[in-house]
Amino acid sequence: MYCSPFVVFWLAMRITGHTVLVTGGASGIGFAMAQRFLAEGNTVIICGRREDKLREARGLLPGLATRVSDLADPLQRIELAAWAVKQFPSLDVLVNNAGIQRRLSLLQTLEWDELHTELAINLEAPIHLSTLLVPHLRKMPQPAVINVSSGLAYVPLAITPIYSATKAAIHSYTLSLRHQLAPHVEVIEIAPPAVNTDLGGPGLHTWGVPLDEFADAAFAQLRSGSTEISYGFSEDAKQATAEGRHEMFERMNKR
Ligand SMILES: NC(=O)c1ccc[n+]([C@@H]2O[C@H](COP(=O)([O-])OP(=O)(O)OC[C@H]3O[C@@H](n4cnc5c(N)ncnc54)[C@H](OP(=O)(O)O)[C@@H]3O)[C@@H](O)[C@H]2O)c1
Repeated sequence: MYCSPFVVFWLAMRITGHTVLVTGGASGIGFAMAQRFLAEGNTVIICGRREDKLREARGLLPGLATRVSDLADPLQRIELAAWAVKQFPSLDVLVNNAGIQRRLSLLQTLEWDELHTELAINLEAPIHLSTLLVPHLRKMPQPAVINVSSGLAYVPLAITPIYSATKAAIHSYTLSLRHQLAPHVEVIEIAPPAVNTDLGGPGLHTWGVPLDEFADAAFAQLRSGSTEISYGFSEDAKQATAEGRHEMFERMNKR
């Protein structure tokens, strides 16, 4: 499809001068995004459960605003959104990045509360925070919601069944959100491949793409106006045919 340079310019998210809330911004991909947004002259607020990690992030990136918040809890999401709008009336970008990943055997007896926590953090929180903040965001001149999904949205990793399902759901929700919010709020999806962070616990993702390599590539795509950001495995999975995805599933989930 032909897109005139004017249209591309108009659609591309301006990368500076925003006030950005990054959930889970004290570590991993969220921290790398917060670092890059700050360097580009944005005001950046991060949240997470661990006060010490937030303090450490503030030490590394002076100028960050931080807030302790457990996004598994709907009340804390409401408090976070109200606090952010009150303290930062210029808030115009929400980055739904916080997430956890659990490896589970579905043959075992599992407690619903435990399963639900992963659903609550990875799926309910981004939907709830978007719902809470869109009425504010849409009043701003160039607002955006950025949802962090995963390559596993396209091809599930069977040992992380709830995680993979939440990422497929976030991918789907992002398509609908983009459709409904256009042209008021730009909606962007970042689908990382495996990246070397502490996701799922230290040491489980050391084989992934180096964090800075991924964050630089994602930010370059953001700067160029892409609304569907992927890299390496997630790009391959997104572009694959149904048959290709089936083959990827078989390969990834060999017993
Ligand atoms: N690394 C990968 O291979 C990969 C691949 C695809 C997608 N992703 C996605 O990228 C995002 C970031 O993950 P990451 O790899 O950077 O892992 P990470 O380093 O473990 O970061 C996850 C962040 O989320 C925060 N968080 C978790 N539960 C939370 C809660 N209940 N309330 C508030 N904050 C919470 C954590 O902070 P606290 O623990 O202090 O709360 C942490 O800062 C996730 O959505 C993940 O699914 C990662």
